[in-house]
Amino acid sequence: MEIALRARSKNPPQRGGFCCKLLIKNCHLLFLCWCVIMYIYNNQRKVLISMNILIIGGGGREHAIAAALAKSPKVEKLYCAPGNGGISALAECFPDVKATDLDGVVALAERLKPDYVFVAPDDPLVMGLVDMLNERGFKTFGPKANAAILEGSKAFSKALMKKYGIPTAAYETFTDEAKAVDYITKQNSFPTVIKADGLALGKGVIIAQNLDEAKAAVHSMLVDGKFGKSGSEIVVEEFMDGTEVTVLAFTDGKTVKPMISSMDHKRAYDNDEGLNTGGMGTIAPNPLYTDAIAAECMERIFKPTIAAMSSKGRPFKGCLYFGLMLTKSGAKVVEYNSRFGDPEAQVVLPLLETDLADIMEAIWEERLEALDIKWSDKACACVVMASGGYPEKYETGKEISGLDDKGQSPLAYVFHAGTKLVDGKYLTAGGRVLGVTSAAKDLGSALAAAYKAVESISFEKAHYRKDIGQKALKK
Ligand code: AMP
Ligand code: GLY
Repeated sequence: MEIALRARSKNPPQRGGFCCKLLIKNCHLLFLCWCVIMYIYNNQRKVLISMNILIIGGGGREHAIAAALAKSPKVEKLYCAPGNGGISALAECFPDVKATDLDGVVALAERLKPDYVFVAPDDPLVMGLVDMLNERGFKTFGPKANAAILEGSKAFSKALMKKYGIPTAAYETFTDEAKAVDYITKQNSFPTVIKADGLALGKGVIIAQNLDEAKAAVHSMLVDGKFGKSGSEIVVEEFMDGTEVTVLAFTDGKTVKPMISSMDHKRAYDNDEGLNTGGMGTIAPNPLYTDAIAAECMERIFKPTIAAMSSKGRPFKGCLYFGLMLTKSGAKVVEYNSRFGDPEAQVVLPLLETDLADIMEAIWEERLEALDIKWSDKACACVVMASGGYPEKYETGKEISGLDDKGQSPLAYVFHAGTKLVDGKYLTAGGRVLGVTSAAKDLGSALAAAYKAVESISFEKAHYRKDIGQKALKK
């Protein structure tokens, strides 16, 4: 006892030493606690911020969507099917899974287990991919087939507009050649517009300048089956004179939030000459779309369309594309598309300041109304570089020069529309190849930067319009 006391007084107990001993004695317990805390933290973090998204599609629009989602702090991993050469710098691509291979996409989703599947192109939306994915428990961005029909059937969308008083061109639908020709003859108003009812890769619209052209168009669709089943019913409509504007809008079926307006350039050559294409270039915002026109469109077109679809039991969730004609008698709907436009997405999404993943979640959860969506006040321009011959016959497999190893240019953002990455080289793989895009303080600067980058990129027989944005600049 005495020895013990003496020993203690020689080495008085120190608080730090005692704690150390306690720690060492219980280190296994502490280690266990640490593991439990880390496990809970990681799981919480995963729930809160880590999101894996599978994007369906493989063009410039999907590249723009991937670039917007890649900026999100919530997004951990992006997948894209089929994707393309440029998208592969941002997302793991699955080139063998085509967007229209619905079973293949569902099988891929079941393997990857993404938190969301973002369905971007029209065909899989109209074919019901979103429905199939939802039935298997996947969350999605994009409308179900019963709402995507707004793009999938012009006869449906025209009837909806007529019923709900949404301004559009006067029209009639036909499945019989003689009746169609009789109607056009009696109308005797040219030009007149003849449209295939269904999807036709943007080629199903013929603007006939006289009765002979109109008869030929009707015959090609209803008798020769030029567009297959898509053309077995046609819409004949009044020609609208005016300026075209694209307005993309986010909607959860209850609320509609228009994005920044844009202007597409659909014809292949300068001064709107040549054939219609998917789009040769875009600018945003569209200076012709004033605040007053926007307010009119909101009340007469956007809100009524969303309300009409919901009241028909077809709530539209995703991005609805309003193709508008600004006529002397007000804005009228030229067409609806059930998706982001291409190349409209390439100029609109770079100006989006709100996290696209947040918007996607808000739409899925139908709480878009509460979300404040912010936009940059810059202007954005996209110049499409296409393969020579597009939109008709063109060659692919041409090596693209002027891009770095990520498929980018130091001068502008390059959205890949039709490219393939083979042995470290970018090759052309489609009609529209690249969308060279720049955002700047004003449209003139954005266009100058985009064109400077275009001049530094080349491939054999590359073709691009030199007048993108000129009409808007003159405004
Ligand atoms: P759509 O596929 O319906 O968008 O038509 C393709 C293009 O044809 C439009 O972007 C317009 O340039 C033109 N177009 C379609 N319908 C009309 C119309 N009723 N009046 C004038 N141009 C039209
Ligand atoms: N740029 C026209 C469209 O996406 O339909």
